[in-house]
Amino acid sequence: MRTKLVAGNWKMHGNLAANERLLTSIRDAAGAFSSICAVCVPFPYLAQAQAVLAGSKVAWGAQNVSEHAQGAYTGEVSAAMLVEFSCRYVLVGHSERRSLYGESDTLVADKFVAALQAGLTPVLCVGETLAEREADITGAVVTRQLEAVIAKSGVAALGRAVLAYEPVWAIGTGKTATPQQAQDVHALIRTRVAAGDVAIAQGVQILYGGSVKAGNAQELFAMPDIDGGLIGGASLVAEDFLAICAAA
Ligand code: 13P
Repeated sequence: MRTKLVAGNWKMHGNLAANERLLTSIRDAAGAFSSICAVCVPFPYLAQAQAVLAGSKVAWGAQNVSEHAQGAYTGEVSAAMLVEFSCRYVLVGHSERRSLYGESDTLVADKFVAALQAGLTPVLCVGETLAEREADITGAVVTRQLEAVIAKSGVAALGRAVLAYEPVWAIGTGKTATPQQAQDVHALIRTRVAAGDVAIAQGVQILYGGSVKAGNAQELFAMPDIDGGLIGGASLVAEDFLAICAAA
């Protein structure tokens, strides 16, 4: 049985005062959950997340990481720096990074490897656009994104990672994939991993992301290959995020 994971992706939201309230509420409620609960916050707030959450059941992490270990890379943040703030997770390949910042499959794979080498748990995001779904190439797109990482890291590395299926058309749109649509892609991802290693495929958590709310979380998380959620908008409101954690 895989433990469920609910991770909040705050994106570029928050401020010190609001974060304090949100982090404290999550920390104080998390003891009751059987699932793992995590927040991925903007870089400047990692110290705050660490200060509030240290010693609690809630894990924290970042939303991006450099593919380089160190050097003259203005504006970048290395995996070792994230480790210094006791991050457990880091998102790699979020669709907003891919589409707005031109991150290629190859770059995402390099970031994935950099995160693993530093001892972080990368959360590899994959997912198709609406045009790709309508062209009936969802499986091909998701497989291509996944295989770029497997080619670089080897399938065994997925045993130290988390996967997240986030259909781009469902992100921030209020248009959730149906539980069956999500399940179909999750099963396809797990089958692809199983082709390389059956035990790794059975153990790896595959999260669903895209307009997960308190009202639809339970039916999504009930699907056999959906092991939790990656939550955007609803992770910014303590009550909503906690309800989703409780549904897991
Ligand atoms: P929403 O939950 O706001 O749709 O965002 C999903 C997401 O992008 C999480 O990474």
